[in-house]
Order: sequence, then C-alpha cells, then structure tokens
Amino acid sequence: MASSNQPFILIVDDNATNLSVLSQALKAVGYKVRLAMDGEDALAQVERAHPELILLDIQMPQMDGFETCRRLQENPETKGITVIFMTALADTNTKVKGLSVGAVDYITKPFEQEEVLARVKIHWRLKQLTDSLEQQVEERAKALQEAQLQLIQSEKMSALGNLVAGVAHEINNPISCIVGNINFMENYMNDVLGAIDLYGKKFPHPGAEVEDALDAIDLNHLREDLPKLIRAMKAGGDRITTISQSLRTFSRGDSDRKQPFNLHDGIESTLMILGHRLKANEHRPAIEVIQDYGDLPPIECFSGLLNQVFMNILANAIDTCDEAAQQFSFDDLNAHRQKITIESTLTEQNAIEIRICDNGKGMSEAVKARVFDHLFTTKGVGKGTGLGLAIAHQIVVDKHGGSLEVQSELGQGTEFCIRLPIAG
Ligand SMILES: Nc1ncnc2c1ncn2[C@@H]1O[C@H](COP(=O)(O)OP(=O)(O)OP(=O)(O)O)[C@@H](O)[C@H]1O
Ligand SMILES: [Mg+2]
Repeated sequence: MASSNQPFILIVDDNATNLSVLSQALKAVGYKVRLAMDGEDALAQVERAHPELILLDIQMPQMDGFETCRRLQENPETKGITVIFMTALADTNTKVKGLSVGAVDYITKPFEQEEVLARVKIHWRLKQLTDSLEQQVEERAKALQEAQLQLIQSEKMSALGNLVAGVAHEINNPISCIVGNINFMENYMNDVLGAIDLYGKKFPHPGAEVEDALDAIDLNHLREDLPKLIRAMKAGGDRITTISQSLRTFSRGDSDRKQPFNLHDGIESTLMILGHRLKANEHRPAIEVIQDYGDLPPIECFSGLLNQVFMNILANAIDTCDEAAQQFSFDDLNAHRQKITIESTLTEQNAIEIRICDNGKGMSEAVKARVFDHLFTTKGVGKGTGLGLAIAHQIVVDKHGGSLEVQSELGQGTEFCIRLPIAG
C-alpha cells in the first residue's frame, strides 16, 4: 500500500487528453498516478498493484465503466478500492447506476480540476478514516475476546480455589479428630493389654471358658498386629493432613499484595491437585515426577498467581505425555518412562530458577516461536484455549519482573525455565 500521504490513483479513460490533464493535476498535488485506456487494461493493472482510488470513465469501448466497476466489486481482493466514476452523461439514471454498482461518487464531464481534486481529497480522507475505524474495531473485538477468555480462565482458577478450600476445610475437622485421638487410643490399648497381662500373671489358669475366649481372639497375634495397625493409621492420617494442607496452600493465594511464599509448597500443592492425571491410565503407565529442589528462601510474590503458572506448565507437560502415549505401545512406555523433572536453584544473581522438564513430544521451531502468544494452541477444540502460557508469561514477567523461557526439541521433550527475582 502507498504511504498515507501519497495514495496511488488509477485513472481509466479512453480519451488521451483527459488522461493527461487529470494526471498532471493530480501529480501536481503529490498523488502517484497510473493510467489505463480501457476497462480490461484497468483490471489488469489493478491485479498487479492495488490502487487506493480509481477514477473511472463510464463510456469506453469494449468493457465500459459499469462493467469494470462490477468486476472490481465481485473480487474480494479489489472490493475495498474506492471508485469515483466520470461521466458526460449527467442524467440521473447513469449516476444511480454508477453508484449502485459500487462507486462512491461521480464527477461530470467536462470536469473542473478543482472539483476533481476536492472530491479525490475527501474520498481519500474518508477511506483512511474507514480503514482505521475498521482496524480499531477489529483490535477492540480481539482484545475483548482475549479479556473474556482470560476472565474465564481466572474464574475457573478461582472456582477451583474455592472448591479446594471448601474441601480442605471440611476434611480438616474429622481428620484432626482422628489424628489427635490416635495417640490416646494407642495408650488406652496398651493399658488394656497391660491389664490383661497382669490378670494372666495373677491368674495363670482362669478356666476353660476364658482360655477358649482368649484363643478365639488370638491374643498374641492381636498384640503383635495392633501396633502396626496403629502406625499405618497414623501414617494415613498424616498423609491426609498433608493433602489438606496442600489444598489450603493452593487455594490461599488470592491476596492482592505480595506475601512471602515458599515456592516448593506451591509446586507440591499443584502436583497434588494434578495427581490424578499423573497416575497410570488405559493408555500409559504413571508419569514419574522427579523433584530436585534446592535450598530456597521464601520469596515475596502473589502465590495464587504463581500456582497458576505451575498449574499451566505442569498441565501442558502432562498433556504432551498423553499425546506422546498415543504413538507408543504400553511396553515401549514401560521401557522408556515418561518423566517430569522439577528442579529449583538459587542463582548467584539472587534469583530463583525453576526448571520444569518433560520428555514428551517436544515442539517444532514454528510452535516454539508462538507458545506464549495469546490463543495459540495446537490442541483440539475444547481441549486447549491457547491461554495457559500467555497468562503464565504475563504473571512471571509483568507481575513479578521475572522471565519465562522455553527450550524444546521435537521428539525429545521440553523445558520451561521460570526465573524470579528474590527481592520481589
Ligand atoms: N510441554 C510442552 N510440550 C509440547 N508442546 C507444548 C508444551 N507446552 C506447551 N506446548 C505447546 O504450546 C501451545 C500453547 O500452550 P498453552 O498452554 O498456552 O495453551 P494450550 O495448552 O493449548 O491451551 P490452555 O489454554 O488450555 O492451556 C500448546 O498448544 C502446545 O502446542
Ligand atoms: Mg496449556
């Protein structure tokens, strides 16, 4: 397209004098001009380079101006070009016909140069305004769509947060009751067993009825098994307490200011929420998660948002393992385990680095170049919105002054590196 100061105008007229007069007048005020002697010639020229505006004579041999204009309108590529027709036929029918086939205005011959220039100028201005308006509408519509999708994602996250917080809260009381009472129960049982032992010592021959009852409950086995049972119950209780704590860590971070947060807690709680997706399913064995955590200080951050980053990156890593699994047999996958490695380090630049690495499908260069783009997805409809990494990037870079980088090789795997400054 020509620069906005110098639109390119195509003048179509079978009269050489008209062409020359008009082109001189237009060139004199800075327009770039090309000339065509008939409709065919005009269409061929338009094909080669689109003008911004066409001054089109109506009466020409072979293809007249109406037909030329109709063809321009028919073609989606040339539909948007502004056409002003020129006619010596000043009757209303001609004007109406010209306008109805797609011209925006007309000039009657013999023309006044001033009038031509004025009309060209105003239509060029209108065209620029229309184009910029269309562009603005398009940009706004796109921004609106992105904002809507982001809202949906953050609503989903906050709904998940609320649900998780609710579940954690409900689990909390019963599990505290179990964990808190297990020690008392152990003591009581020891007391009871002690009392039985004492009875046994004092009355070694309590008689057939009591001896049969003791045989029936297999007291010795019970005495051996009971401590194991209590240990297992304690371990189970502790596990549920950890889960409930993780759920609360995950759901806690909706604060509007930065707070000290241990990133490992965030990663662990996210892994827990995603736990069901890591397990074996009918297509693949379980995905192994390897945590190689360094010694990290808590950092000032929006913990809820960083959990969202971990969630999006880890969910993608699981997605790619699922996709890769479709290409391999169960035996292949058993031999070549699918893994997600999470590594954290404190760098010398006083920053925290978290690398999340998978051995899934990897990405082509073309995909890699676009992973952080809004709405870029290679997943099917309903599976991916293409927002996960765009949002993660925004959270790490804009909200925390950090960086988010990707390295990937097709068929090998992918690594995301999150770098966060400690100073917040
Ligand atoms: N670990 C990965 N391995 C391979 N490709 C990946 C990986 N992570 C992201 N991608 C590619 O980047 C694209 C964009 O990821 P992003 O998380 O932004 O969107 P999405 O996962 O498609 O959709 P969603 O909005 O649900 O997260 C994915 O569609 C995928 O092609
Ligand atoms: Mg994603």
